[in-house]
Amino acid sequence: MKTVLITGCSSGFGLKIARYFLARDWQVVATMRTPRADVLPPSDRLRVLALDVTNPESIREAVEAAGPIDVLVNNAGFGAASPAELTPIATVRELFETNTIGTIALTQAVLPQFRQRKAGVVVNVTSSVTLKALPLLAAYRASKAAVNAFTESMALELEQFGVRAHLVLPGRAPETRFGENARAHIHGFNHEAYADLVKSVVARMGDTSAPITHAQDVAEAVWRAATDPSSPMRIPAGADAEAWAAEVR
Ligand SMILES: NC(=O)c1ccc[n+]([C@@H]2O[C@H](COP(=O)([O-])OP(=O)(O)OC[C@H]3O[C@@H](n4cnc5c(N)ncnc54)[C@H](OP(=O)(O)O)[C@@H]3O)[C@@H](O)[C@H]2O)c1
Repeated sequence: MKTVLITGCSSGFGLKIARYFLARDWQVVATMRTPRADVLPPSDRLRVLALDVTNPESIREAVEAAGPIDVLVNNAGFGAASPAELTPIATVRELFETNTIGTIALTQAVLPQFRQRKAGVVVNVTSSVTLKALPLLAAYRASKAAVNAFTESMALELEQFGVRAHLVLPGRAPETRFGENARAHIHGFNHEAYADLVKSVVARMGDTSAPITHAQDVAEAVWRAATDPSSPMRIPAGADAEAWAAEVR
């Protein structure tokens, strides 16, 4: 029986990915900053572990407690919105600490076992916003685009060991807690120089007729990356992400 370790399982995509793998008879190590087993169905194949990806000690303890794993899914992350000029450097640092360095640090902690076993898959959840320049997301896009670059180079190094790495690029998913969590990291929206731009971007995001991504799309894309060795490096997840990927192809 295979084992997957997933970060950020308290809500949204991470929670759905954990449920998806549990329903397919995998052993699931669902990690959360604040562990809560009751968000997932009871199962003797489920373990819930504490993991804050910004904390090296927490990474060490979680990887040790998890034991051997076959697939690592780096899903934990958060968003922030503000004009590039007005994004506090503290926010930029926080974004990179979680979305980029957290992903890199956990990957480094897991790779030795993959390399020694000559097997394993790393799936990094980034974003379809890395495919297209969008205003008010400069720092968030940069934190995710850095993971794309890291993952693509790493995959070339790991091929010789039979270890795979893939990117899942979700589109906009209003059903998760992403938007709500990003609200605490909004800056400069009331600055007069950017007010018109902010108004037009917010109006566009409120367009309910536009295609969106569902957590199920992301779980399916992660499953594909984990189980199908012929899957591509970049897997867009969701109708909007697939349309964007087709545009830039
Ligand atoms: N929803 C979208 O529109 C969208 C689109 C493209 C990509 N994404 C990406 O998809 C991933 C999942 O987002 P989501 O939509 O499912 O949002 P979500 O519901 O807010 O889930 C994010 C998860 O990440 C966790 N997290 C945040 N900081 C963490 C840290 N330092 N250590 C460990 N876990 C941490 C959160 O845990 P807590 O409960 O402890 O905060 C939560 O479980 C993120 O990487 C996000 O950037 C989202």
